[in-house]
This record gives sequence, structure tokens and C-alpha cells, in this order.
Amino acid sequence: MLLLTIESSCDETAAAVVRDGRKVLSSIVASQVKDHAVYGGVVPEIASRKHLETIPVVIDEALHTASVSLENIEGIAVTRGPGLAGALLVGVAVAKAIAFARRLPIVGVNHIEGHIAAILLEREVAFPYVALAVSGGHTHLYRVDGIGRYTILGQTRDDAAGEAFDKVAKLLGLPYPGGVEIDRLAAGGDPRRISFPRPLLHDGSFNFSFSGLKTAVLNHVRKNPPQGDEQYLRDLCASFQAAACDVLVAKTLLAAETEGIGRVVVAGGVACNSSLRAEMAREAAARGIDLAIPSPSLCGDNAAMLAVPGDFYLSRGITDGLSLDATAVWPL
Ligand code: KG4
Ligand code: ZN
Repeated sequence: MLLLTIESSCDETAAAVVRDGRKVLSSIVASQVKDHAVYGGVVPEIASRKHLETIPVVIDEALHTASVSLENIEGIAVTRGPGLAGALLVGVAVAKAIAFARRLPIVGVNHIEGHIAAILLEREVAFPYVALAVSGGHTHLYRVDGIGRYTILGQTRDDAAGEAFDKVAKLLGLPYPGGVEIDRLAAGGDPRRISFPRPLLHDGSFNFSFSGLKTAVLNHVRKNPPQGDEQYLRDLCASFQAAACDVLVAKTLLAAETEGIGRVVVAGGVACNSSLRAEMAREAAARGIDLAIPSPSLCGDNAAMLAVPGDFYLSRGITDGLSLDATAVWPL
């Protein structure tokens, strides 16, 4: 099927045209980062308004780039949740309007389901695989037995990993969004200079906790402020990043070993982190595990990723109809 997909769960307005759930003909992402940066984080009301302004342009651009017209589209997949209610509503309302006008089948897709399936747009990964979804809102480990067949193995008890990156960046006075800044500064830092805690590392579960790590950084910085010492700032970033990545890598690979699964997928915005990618690759190789991480453009929020589950459901006649509604809290 030729699908139009729409994503508006947080601060990216995105649309894509994808054939048969695998071939991306276009993927347009309009970021609102600049609109939220002055507030140091995403402001839900601003996000909704920006989505409203941008979404028609992004959809036109996706169709134009793919060289297809709306008449050729055979179905629509849209992020139904989880996310910011007002932001989700914009995407869902537009998707339903197009579906109604063109008499197209429509399906609401879980945002996390999109993230952990995104890799299939780039390469095949046989089922089952273990997936780490690691973003600003989520840190979840799943066993994936097929599209629509997910078993949750563990999740964060407090902050998501991306949230911890962003909060640590903020307390270090770095610009929003902080994850990328920490990644950049850490590249020139010594990850062994400060020994931050690795929460729940040896508790045997597949759960995570990042709020204690963030507090440990805060306490350390209060006692030892960077005061313009650039190298110390880099070391702080590298030391925090190493603590966060150590836990993410260890728990993910332990989950794969415990499940007896030799394939691991890492997805979501934090999967862009260079240290996480490198450490996960090194440790997976040492254990003979096949590791698949999407290209950075498919790790962050995008609409193309929705086409993998979207096509799977629509081509089996699984649709939502026009009663589809945004669902801010929607566990996968
Ligand atoms: O998946 P995503 O774009 O949106 C959500 O669904 O949350 O993830 C955004 C998160 C933010 O917390 C951002 O700081 C983090 O991903 N992030 C990174 C990097 N790039 C994005 N964190 C660490 N290192 C990066 N390079
Ligand atoms: Zn996301």
C-alpha cells in the first residue's frame, strides 16, 4: 500500500509517504526546537499551535517530494499516542479529515511502536528481537515477536534517559535541547574523572532509574561548579554520559541474553548518542549479538517510522475509522 503517515506527538511536525511499509519515498520533519528553546523545554500550548500552522505545509511537502498526489494515497497512519494531548490532536484531526475527504482507511499507531519498528525501513531484522526505546519520554525494553506482538521487559521507574540528559544539560547551563550538547561536549571529556552512580545496574531487573543520577550530578556541580573551566565541563558531561550509557547497554544486553535472543534494536532520540551507539556496538559484538540502530534521522521523531506498523495493520484490514481519538497515555 502507498501510505501517508503523520506524526505530531511532541515538538516535531512530520509527514511521510511510504510504499508497502518499507520504501520511504519522502520523510519531512519540521522541528519546533527554536520555538521552545527560550523556555528551556517543550511548552505544550505552543507545540499545538505550531503543529496547526505547520502540518498542511509538511504534508504538501511530503507528497511533493514523493512525487505523488493525494489521489494516489491508499491509506493513512497517524500517531494516536502517547504524547502531548493537544499536539496529538492536531495530527489525528488532520489525518481523519483527509481520510474522510478521500474515503481512505486510517489507523492510529503507538509512537513507541513506530520507534522500535523504524529500523525495518533500513534493514531486515528477524523476529524476535529485543528493543530498547530510549527517548525524551521513554526508556522501555521490549521483546518484539512481530509487529503488534510486544512484551514489556522493563522500563524506567522515574525519568526517561533523554529527560535526564536534558535536565543535566539545563543544570550545567547548556542550551536546549541538552542531549545533543552533552554528546558534543563529552566527546572531548574524560568519562572516568567523576564516578557517578549506575542506578539499578546490578539489581537483576530490566528496569531503569535516572533521577538519582541526575541528582548526583546536581550535588556534584553544587560543590564543584564549573566556573568557566571548559575541560572540567567536558569531563562532567562525559562522566554523566558514561554512567547513563553503562546502564542502558548492560540492561539491554542482559535482557537479550536472558530471553535467549541474539538480535537487539536501539531506537528513539537518545539512540543518536555517539557514546551509546559505540558502547552498545562494542558490547554486542563481544557477545555475538546482532545490533541494529537506525540512522540518526530515523531515531528521532519522524513519520516514516509509523508506516511499518501502519502498513501491517491496514493491509490486514485493521483500521480505526473516524472515531479514532488521540490518547495521551497509551502503554505499548
Ligand atoms: O525520540 P525523540 O526525538 O522524542 C521523544 O519521543 O521524546 O527524543 C528526544 C530526546 C531528547 O531528550 C534529546 O535530548 C535526546 O532525545 N537526544 C539525545 C541526543 N539526540 C537527541 N540524547 C543524547 N545524545 C544525543 N546525541
Ligand atoms: Zn519519540
